[in-house]
Amino acid sequence: MNSNELKKSVAMAVLDYIHPGEIIGIGTGSTVYYFIKALSTVKNLIRGAISSSNSSTFFLKKYGIPVYNLNDMKSLTLYIDSADEINFKLQMIKGGGAALTNEKIIASVAKEFICIADESKLVQVLGEFPLPVEIIPMATSCVLNKLKMLGGKPKVRKNVITDNGNIIIDIYNFKISDPIAMEKKINSFPGVVSVGLFAIRKADVALISTASGIKKIT
Ligand code: 5RP
Repeated sequence: MNSNELKKSVAMAVLDYIHPGEIIGIGTGSTVYYFIKALSTVKNLIRGAISSSNSSTFFLKKYGIPVYNLNDMKSLTLYIDSADEINFKLQMIKGGGAALTNEKIIASVAKEFICIADESKLVQVLGEFPLPVEIIPMATSCVLNKLKMLGGKPKVRKNVITDNGNIIIDIYNFKISDPIAMEKKINSFPGVVSVGLFAIRKADVALISTASGIKKIT
């Protein structure tokens, strides 16, 4: 199975974790795209979605799934999203699709976060994938300087403006031994909107798609 087939397979598998009739939070990316398509094959499985990006909103609407505003929700039971990397503690790097801040907001209010990913995303130590950081544009050079002092190689992502009008810095060559401490540290830099480390609010369940089936990690 290639990576797209693995993504499709886990996107179908997570349908079994949804309580019918709910509004659920939905992430961003190609795995989530397959999930939105899978949702559209089961009529009225969900009542609607809270979307983490303009791109997911586009696909949700295209497949006839109503999109609600997070501010109108009293609570949210479930958030489903993928990751760029996930470790065995279910801490993640996210933001390859530049939607990290909105993803983090929705994840923070959801009672349960299920991460769906193909096996290439499962790692021992986070940081092979460049760590995305969303920043306010005027803070670019001062945040770049602060991030350099952490030891990695931060670079502004070219030709990308987030849905919130900000820019993304990706930190290359940056193995993260203590994800919670690093998330807190980068969050503390003025100008940082959010960092794509999901360690403080990690996933509760990971469904990992492998050639031999879906592996569940809790
Ligand atoms: C978007 C994300 C995605 O979850 C992450 O980039 C994985 O994407 P894909 O499913 O395309 O591999 O964090 O901001």
